[in-house]
Amino acid sequence: MTSDALFGLASEPKLLDPVGREVPDFPIPAPLAEHGPARIIAMCNQKGGVGKTTTTINLAACLAELGRRVLIVDFDPQGAASVGLGVPTHELETTVYSVLVDRTIDVHEVIVGTEVDGLDVLPANIDLSAAEVQLVGEVARESILARVLRPVIDEYDVILVDCQPSLGLLTVNALTAAHGVLIPLECEFFALRGVALLVETIEKVRDRLNPRLEVDGIIATMFDSRTLHAREVISRVYEAFGDTLMHTVIGRTIKFPDASVAAEPIITYAPNHRGAASYRQLARELISRGDAA
Ligand SMILES: Nc1ncnc2c1ncn2[C@@H]1O[C@H](COP(=O)(O)OP(=O)(O)OP(=O)(O)O)[C@@H](O)[C@H]1O
Ligand SMILES: [Mg+2]
Repeated sequence: MTSDALFGLASEPKLLDPVGREVPDFPIPAPLAEHGPARIIAMCNQKGGVGKTTTTINLAACLAELGRRVLIVDFDPQGAASVGLGVPTHELETTVYSVLVDRTIDVHEVIVGTEVDGLDVLPANIDLSAAEVQLVGEVARESILARVLRPVIDEYDVILVDCQPSLGLLTVNALTAAHGVLIPLECEFFALRGVALLVETIEKVRDRLNPRLEVDGIIATMFDSRTLHAREVISRVYEAFGDTLMHTVIGRTIKFPDASVAAEPIITYAPNHRGAASYRQLARELISRGDAA
């Protein structure tokens, strides 16, 4: 008998995720002795309103809390990731759009700091909506973001690219620049249909443009454990994608919209809320899977 069993510790109930897998204890990672080069992760789902931006902001803030240097690339003309971190996008003279279309601009001069220690943003605003059309005629038009990020890759540990809800040229640029893809998935009935198309696109980009690209994980968002429907959807996701489905599940709570109105990540807006605990766990899970430094 081990000493754990003697003291009754072994009989403690194990925590299970919504598909019945035992949730490992994701440890707090050791601080990094030095920073970079960054792993670039595209936050992607062409379906709108599934939690891409919410996950980008909150995962980034939680990685920064663990001492990681994090850059968010706002790659949506709506600028929601920038606004959600308090960046006044309408006042900016340069944005991610500027560095995409003008090689003479230094990306360092466009990146802005945030209230969160260790977290910077390459902001976007509505100007970015012109890029899709403008870049079509460029040489190596799919690799422009990769080129833009090259000068800063050694300065960060993780770069999260918040994609817009489309599979157009901007998203293909994000996938071409990335090492991994995280797919936030709202737990509702039609969620799975879109993921098949997304996975097809990811495979095309891997074959033609970026052989290192891998799907790091699917994150169930807006999960309501009280509904049978949500539990059915998440079981279907697990059947289809196995352990690509992350253990950490983000519950549905009004605290997320509230935090975005306050332009803060949930870990500062409501640090003791279960939503904050979920994103902290997601950050530790990502690191323990080796998908972030
Ligand atoms: N876990 C959650 N619980 C409740 N509301 C949430 C949750 N996550 C996100 N939301 C809210 O749902 C809406 C859509 O979320 P978000 O903007 O993160 O999605 P998105 O995938 O980035 O959308 P888009 O495709 O338009 O860029 C927002 O109002 C957000 O505050
Ligand atoms: Mg968004």
